[in-house]
Amino acid sequence: MRPGEADGTNAVDRLDLNTVPELNLEALRRAWEGSSPPDLAAYPDPEATELVEALARKLGVPAEWIVVGHGSDEILGLAVRTLVPYGGRAATLNPTFAMYARFLAAHGGATVPVPEAKELPRAALRRADASVYLLASPNNPTGTAYPAAAYRALAASSPRPVVLDEAYHQFAGQDLLPLARAQPNVVVVRTFSKAYGLPGIRVGYAVGAPEIVQRLRAARPPFSVSSFSIRAALSALADDRFVTRTVARARAGRRTLARGLAGLGWKVWPSQANFLLIGPSPEAVRIHRELGRRGIWVRRIDYPGGAAGGCLRITVGSPEQIARCLGALAEVGA
Ligand SMILES: Cc1ncc(COP(=O)(O)O)c(C=O)c1O
Repeated sequence: MRPGEADGTNAVDRLDLNTVPELNLEALRRAWEGSSPPDLAAYPDPEATELVEALARKLGVPAEWIVVGHGSDEILGLAVRTLVPYGGRAATLNPTFAMYARFLAAHGGATVPVPEAKELPRAALRRADASVYLLASPNNPTGTAYPAAAYRALAASSPRPVVLDEAYHQFAGQDLLPLARAQPNVVVVRTFSKAYGLPGIRVGYAVGAPEIVQRLRAARPPFSVSSFSIRAALSALADDRFVTRTVARARAGRRTLARGLAGLGWKVWPSQANFLLIGPSPEAVRIHRELGRRGIWVRRIDYPGGAAGGCLRITVGSPEQIARCLGALAEVGA
C-alpha cells in the first residue's frame, strides 16, 4: 500500500525527498503522551536545554558545543549568515544540496562550486575565494562520502570554518564528530529528518567548538524549536532501535535498487546515502515527467547539464516502492 492510500490522500511515492519510508511512530507516541496542554500553551524553552543536554550526553561533548535549530536548514542558514560576510562566498562541492546556493544568494553572495572528484578536491577547495567550506558528507545528490582523513586534512590546512553537513551519515556508517572535537574550525551539522524518520518535527543541530557554535546560537531566534518537537527529538534520541532498523533496510534497499537500475542499463553513481543518482540521460526530463504521471516522484538534477542531459535522484523507498519504481522505469525506457 502507498502512504496515505487508505484515506485516498498522498497516493504517490515520494522518492524525491531523501526521507525514509518508515514513520517513527514510537517516538511520536511517546512525545504525545508526554505532552500536556500547558506545555503547548506556553512558549518553548528558548535554549531547548533538555534536548541540548541529552545530545551533549549522547555525543560526549559539553552542552556549550551544541546548538539546535528548526531543521538543519535553519542551522545551515545561520552558518551562512554568521560565518560569511554579507556578499561573500562559500566553497562547496558540485553538484551539492541546492539550499546552500539559496542561502548564499539570500545573503548577497554565492557558492564557489568545486567539482566532485574521486578524492576530496582539497587543492581546488583551498584555492576557492571563499570564507567557509560547506560540505555535505555523504553529499547530496551523489551520495559520495570521502574518508574522514580527507576532511581532517582540509580543516588542518586552513583556518576557515569547515561546516560538515552529516544529514545522511548513518547510512554511510561514518561519524565526523571526532573532527569537530579535535579541530576548532570544524562544525558538524545533523538532523532528525532522515534516519530518525521525523522530517515533520523540523529539528537539526550543530556540534563544534564554542567559538563558532556560540555565534550560531546568538543569531538563532529563541523559539524556533517547538515544545512538541523538543519532546519528539528527545524520545527519538532515547531509543536507537528505529535508526538501526531503518538504516539496515535502507542499505539493503540501496543494493536492490542499484542492481535493478544497472539491469535497466542506467549508470548508477556509487552512493553511501539513502538515495541513488542515475544518468546523465538526454531523456531525463521526459522520464521524470512519465514517472510523475505514474505517481512516482523522483528528483531531476540538472547535472552535468548541457547536451549530456540531466540526472535523476531516487530515494531508496520501501521494497514495494522500489519494485514500483523499477517497473515504471522499465516501462518508460532509459
Ligand atoms: C545535505 C542536506 N542537508 C540538510 C538537509 C536539510 O534537512 P532538514 O532541514 O530537514 O534537517 C537536507 C535535506 O534534504 C540535505 O539533503
